[in-house]
Amino acid sequence: MGHGIAQVAAQAGYQVVAREVGDERIQKGMGRIEKQLARAVEKGRLEQSAADEIRGRITTTTGFDGFEDCDLVIEAITENLDRKLELWRELDGLVKDEAVFATNTSSLSVIDQAAATKRPNQFVGLHFFNPAQVMPLLEVVQTVTTDDDTFKTAWQFGESLKKTLVHARDKTGFIVNRLLVPYMLDAVRAYEEGVGSIEEIDIAMKAGANHPMGPLTLLDFVGLDTTKSIADIMFDEYRERRFAAPPTLRKMVSAGWYGRKSGRGFYDYSGDAPVAVELGL
Ligand code: CAA
Repeated sequence: MGHGIAQVAAQAGYQVVAREVGDERIQKGMGRIEKQLARAVEKGRLEQSAADEIRGRITTTTGFDGFEDCDLVIEAITENLDRKLELWRELDGLVKDEAVFATNTSSLSVIDQAAATKRPNQFVGLHFFNPAQVMPLLEVVQTVTTDDDTFKTAWQFGESLKKTLVHARDKTGFIVNRLLVPYMLDAVRAYEEGVGSIEEIDIAMKAGANHPMGPLTLLDFVGLDTTKSIADIMFDEYRERRFAAPPTLRKMVSAGWYGRKSGRGFYDYSGDAPVAVELGL
């Protein structure tokens, strides 16, 4: 998600400092951005010079070089509150006081992060969707402490990225995940109950509801580990069964079957085309 956010910001003309935890991850993320830009040039949607300019606006670091002068910092790290708080504490001391902080959290309450910083009034949620370069939506989340100027800055930033914006209240899952996560979890339950095979469930929702991806393909795309973390956080908050991770999802995550990123989830991605892996439930 981080590389996608960096790309859309650079495309909108911003100077971007992208931070990752290691050189390998930086290379992977920048490689993806370069591939996307090359594809746009190939398709005639972008001049080579414009692609070079976009690439040139992104600098990378494994530390915090260049963060001092940033006007806006967006975190897109693991969905773990303690790790996010640790990061914000570090950033609070080194980023200029006027800067706005934003979290790309998909399920944690934004106020829990805002309140841990010295600038709770300058803190918002900016929730992007995967792939961030393609998906139009951006949820802009205002907490009880976010001041109007900060919200306006975040909103104008979203507009400058040419995203479709919605003003979401700071309720776990915001708008999309509150509706989408129970849907994906229910698809796993439908599979557990033998309503249909993996492929049949996906085909049905594509052809019957016109979704671009079936729910189990979408789970592999978002990441089973990520979805489970989101579900656990939402269940913890709302205590409703619809947010509870079904046993199959839990077990697949334990097995390291995270979906596309690990090469296996509901589908096996080792060949030319994904192949459904029936779990023999
Ligand atoms: N990264 C960047 N760009 C990508 C991409 C990726 N991972 N996957 C596809 N694209 C681009 C392609 O390059 C292509 O661009 P061009 O038209 O410029 O060439 C465009 O998207 C369409 O791709 P394809 O023709 O290959 O495939 P498609 O038409 O099936 O579209 C898709 C792919 C956009 C991913 C589409 O399947 C889709 O919309 N799927 C649903 C995605 C979705 O629901 N995302 C939200 C997940 S929930 C979330 O993110 C929030 C959360 O908190 C969990």
